[in-house]
Amino acid sequence: MDVIKVEGGHPITGEVTVEGAKNSALKLMAATLMAKGVSTLTNVPDIADVHVMGKVLKNLGATIEVVNEHELKIDTTNVDSWETPYDLVVQMRASTAVLGPLLSRFGKAVVAMPGGCNIGARKIDMHILGLEALGVEFKIDHGNIHASAPHGIHGATVTLAFASVGATENLMMASVFAKGSTTIDNAAREPEIVDLANLLNEMGADIKGAGSPVIEINGVSELHPVTHAVVGDRIEAGTFLAIGALCGEPVKVKGFDPRHLGLVLKKYEQMGIRVERGSRECTCWREGPILPADIQTLPFPGFPTDMQAQTMCLLSLCQGSCVITENVFENRFMLASELNRMGADITIEGHHAIVHGVPAFSGAQVKSPDLRGGAALVMAGLVADGETVVSAIHHIDRGYEGFVPKLVSLGAKAERDTLPDLDHEI
Ligand code: UD1
Repeated sequence: MDVIKVEGGHPITGEVTVEGAKNSALKLMAATLMAKGVSTLTNVPDIADVHVMGKVLKNLGATIEVVNEHELKIDTTNVDSWETPYDLVVQMRASTAVLGPLLSRFGKAVVAMPGGCNIGARKIDMHILGLEALGVEFKIDHGNIHASAPHGIHGATVTLAFASVGATENLMMASVFAKGSTTIDNAAREPEIVDLANLLNEMGADIKGAGSPVIEINGVSELHPVTHAVVGDRIEAGTFLAIGALCGEPVKVKGFDPRHLGLVLKKYEQMGIRVERGSRECTCWREGPILPADIQTLPFPGFPTDMQAQTMCLLSLCQGSCVITENVFENRFMLASELNRMGADITIEGHHAIVHGVPAFSGAQVKSPDLRGGAALVMAGLVADGETVVSAIHHIDRGYEGFVPKLVSLGAKAERDTLPDLDHEI
């Protein structure tokens, strides 16, 4: 059983540089399927989810050369399959990002139906409804989604019921070669959507409006491979800035655009956190107590659900009480009971978490509930009394490259360890 052990109370300060964004890299990798030849992606994070997407592409017939850990040369010339099986989708839901590119390239795709995951049911009905409007027909059997466009993909106006990141991306990729023009209304506006549209436009697509609620795609006949650098990871950056805010001494984070954390940083200022913004870097520290602030997660430019756990950790030590409302995923408060094991006082009422600030965390054995929740537990361990042992760290490995070494470089006393599994003999 792999764990991260953290001894609390060591001064944390210094500088870290974040990697490229997980949520962008995965979709850019999928998009290379649409341009036959060798595309090069740089600034790709070396994380478990990227390895799974690599397996997905190789399973379809692509070859991938990894240069210096962070550069992928993806050759999609010989891709000859349009099927992504369950054993890959079950490892990572984002494998479904190949649906749009495969429809674009082959006019058909078979992708295993993703199940729910730790943070919620995560349906894909909006992907399906939107693609149907573009002329795609669906049949679902034996746990697989069979998609085909027997009469070709044609432009249409699709209004999303919710600004879904995944649905916006799949629709954008499926409509690049469509006959005529497509409009995605109530599109997601995340920086990773903009990064994907930039890549596709560099490849020769005609996409306008990415980053706004209305995206227009005029169909083109082909794309060509390119070299593209993945946008900096705003969530990894936010995690380290939250660590500076929690521990108190300045933590400078480089390699991302602080405007991508606009509302997070504004909220942190309301919480008494000092924030210094640069063009490609940002520093957070604290001179007084953490002040309570109500938070509600929303699609970009709202407060990101992917920063909710780290912020819950921070607010657990606030001077007063506040409410965190989770509007994006229905099951993203599992961290609360683990933080309560460390002395926090958090009550869950539906999609609201009522946080009563406590003076300190007490080190304990805790279990990562999911990716961001796992990082938040390690973060709590940095200021806890005594040792904290965080298990189920495969969640953290999905999205953070070198999390422990980066913390150690900031002064943390933290290490990975392998503990013997308990013998469950009955
Ligand atoms: C992406 C990110 C994830 C982030 C989330 C919201 C990746 C790999 N993951 O996930 O880190 O937390 O955006 O910013 O990029 N929904 C439906 N039907 C659909 C699609 C979505 O009901 O067809 C619901 C989901 O269950 C969820 C909400 O809409 O409750 C938002 O989902 P979505 O924006 O699609 O998130 P993902 O793309 O899965």
